[in-house]
Order: sequence, then C-alpha cells, then structure tokens
Amino acid sequence: MLVLGLETSCDDTGVAVFDTSQGLLAHRLYSQTRLHAEYGGVVPELASRDHIRKLLPLIREVLLEAGVAPSGLQGLAYTTGPGLAGALLVGAAVGRSLAYAWGIPAIGVHHMEGHLLAPMLEPEPPAFPFLALLVSGGHTLLVDVQGVGQYRILGESVDDAVGEAFDKTAKLLGLGYPGGPEIAKAAEHGTPGRFKFPRPMTDRPGLDFSFSGLKTAALLASQQHALDARTIGDIALAFQDAAIDTLAIKCARALDDTGHKRLVVAGGVGANRALRARLTQLGVERHAEIFYPRPQFCTDNGAMIAYAGAMRLQAGEHEGLGFGARPRWGLTDLSPPH
Ligand code: KG4
Ligand code: ZN
Repeated sequence: MLVLGLETSCDDTGVAVFDTSQGLLAHRLYSQTRLHAEYGGVVPELASRDHIRKLLPLIREVLLEAGVAPSGLQGLAYTTGPGLAGALLVGAAVGRSLAYAWGIPAIGVHHMEGHLLAPMLEPEPPAFPFLALLVSGGHTLLVDVQGVGQYRILGESVDDAVGEAFDKTAKLLGLGYPGGPEIAKAAEHGTPGRFKFPRPMTDRPGLDFSFSGLKTAALLASQQHALDARTIGDIALAFQDAAIDTLAIKCARALDDTGHKRLVVAGGVGANRALRARLTQLGVERHAEIFYPRPQFCTDNGAMIAYAGAMRLQAGEHEGLGFGARPRWGLTDLSPPH
C-alpha cells in the first residue's frame, strides 16, 4: 500500500511516501528554524503561514522523487495532534482535500505514535512488545508498547518536557534555538565536574520525571558566574549530564520493573549523541536491545507519519470527510487499528 504522509504539527513541514512492501520511497523536510530563530522560539501564527507556503510544493517534489503519480497512491496520512492548532489544521485541510480529490482514504495520525513507530523504518526494526522512551519538545514518556495502538504510560514528566528544558536552558545561556543541539554542541567543550546539577526524582520510587528543578539549577549557576564561553560549556555539560542521567536511571528502572528486553528511544532529544551512548551502555549492562530511529527521524518528519498512517489504513481504518485538529491528545486514547 502506497501512502503519502504529511507532518505539520509544529515548525517542520515533513512529507514522505511510504510503501508497505518496498519501504520508504522518498521523504523531504522543510525546517522553519530560521524563521523562528529571531524570536527564540516557535511563533504559532508564523508556523501556520509557512506550512501553507511550503506544503504543496514539498508534496510535488516528494511525489516526483518517489516516481509516484497521485493516481498511484492508496492512502494519505496527516498529523491530527498533539501540536499547534493552526499548524495542524494546515496539514489536515490540505491532506483531507487532496485525499478527496484523488479518491483515496485519509487518516489522522497521532504525532507521538509517529515518533514511537519511527524505528520501524530502520533496517532492523524492534519486535513487539517493547519499552519506549519518548523524549521531545512537548513530551517525556516511558511507555509499555504491546503493539500498534496498545500503549500504557509508565511514567511522564510532572512539569517541563526534557526537550523543553534543553530549549529553555539554551535560551538562558544565550544559545540559539532549538536549544537541544546547541546545548549538545556547547557541552563538547565543557569541563566535567565543575558544576553538578540534581537528578530530580531519581531518589524515590516511580517512573515519573521532573525537569523544572534542573532548569532552575542551570539558571542559578548562570546568574552566579560570568557567562564566558568556558562557563557556558561547563553549564551546558552539567545540564546535559544530569538530564541524560535522569532519563537513563528511569529507563533502567522501567526495564527492571517490566522485564522488557527491548527499549525504543524516539523523539527529538533521542537525536542527542551523549544520550544514545549512555543508553547503549545501559543496554549492555541490562542485556537489552536498544533501538533508535536515524537521528533525522528522531526529530519531526513526514516518514513516521506515513508509516503510522499506513499501519492503520492497511487495517481498513480511515476517516470521514470532515477533519479537525487535536492540539491536546493523549497517547492512551488510541486503540489498535480497526
Ligand atoms: O520531536 P521533536 O522534533 O518535536 C516535538 O515533537 O517536540 O523534538 C524537538 C525537541 C526540541 O526540544 C529540541 O531542542 C530537542 O528535541 N532536540 C535535542 C536534540 N535535537 C533536538 N535535544 C537534545 N539533543 C539534541 N541533539
Ligand atoms: Zn515531534
């Protein structure tokens, strides 16, 4: 089944064509980073308008690259939520209209299910069931995954998402947006041990996370020292170490508690090299296999939406002619394809 996937939930316009027998045929991403950089974060209205400008040209390019005519498509998937309402509506309106015009079924996809299934696009995908660590700008989740649509949340952040903490810490250090890659870059020049930040909620039982205290620790350090390049690197390193340690401690605990032998790591923060190294090490210690999407598919992309949509369309699931956006939408509201 040939499926076109559209992702417009935040500041990336992603388009891909996925074939259930041949795999991914083409994918492209247009990142709005430069548009939002001068504001230090995503401006929702600008994001919506830019999706309108970029989506159709990108769809044309991807279809051309895949060598697929619209008449060859058998389904269309777009992100329904969670995300920015206006941005989501652009993808939903364009996706639903094209599917109607082309006479093919359409399906709205949950953005986090897209992230969660992204490792399925890799040459050696994980088998179900598995444990998933979903770490993005809006979510920090530990999920027990029994199959597509069968999700149980084991732990989540009680305050900031880890990606959000990376972004806010980068901002207070005067680094660019998005903050995750900037912190990672600055941390490469950091001196280990100069600052030591807390590992929130690791000293008590449970699998929930908290990242706002860590952000405050970085804020205090930045106020107490002159922010020269060396200190910025040292604070970035201490922050990144503490965030990664916290995630790894909870992953270890979740593997022990559930008995899972497979851990999937996905979402934007999953692109972080130090996190990947740390979790790979954890896998060795716990005799667990760790699965990541390629870094490009950790952050937002159309391929994961095409894949997640294809799994549901293939089972015969599809939407009516109406469309909408679900800016807030829990992963556990999903059910298996039907
Ligand atoms: O999944 P994603 O692209 O969008 C959301 O669904 O939120 O995740 C974006 C988040 C941002 O907070 C960004 O700073 C973070 O992922 N991120 C990283 C890295 N690359 C992206 N965080 C740490 N290290 C990275 N290399
Ligand atoms: Zn995302």
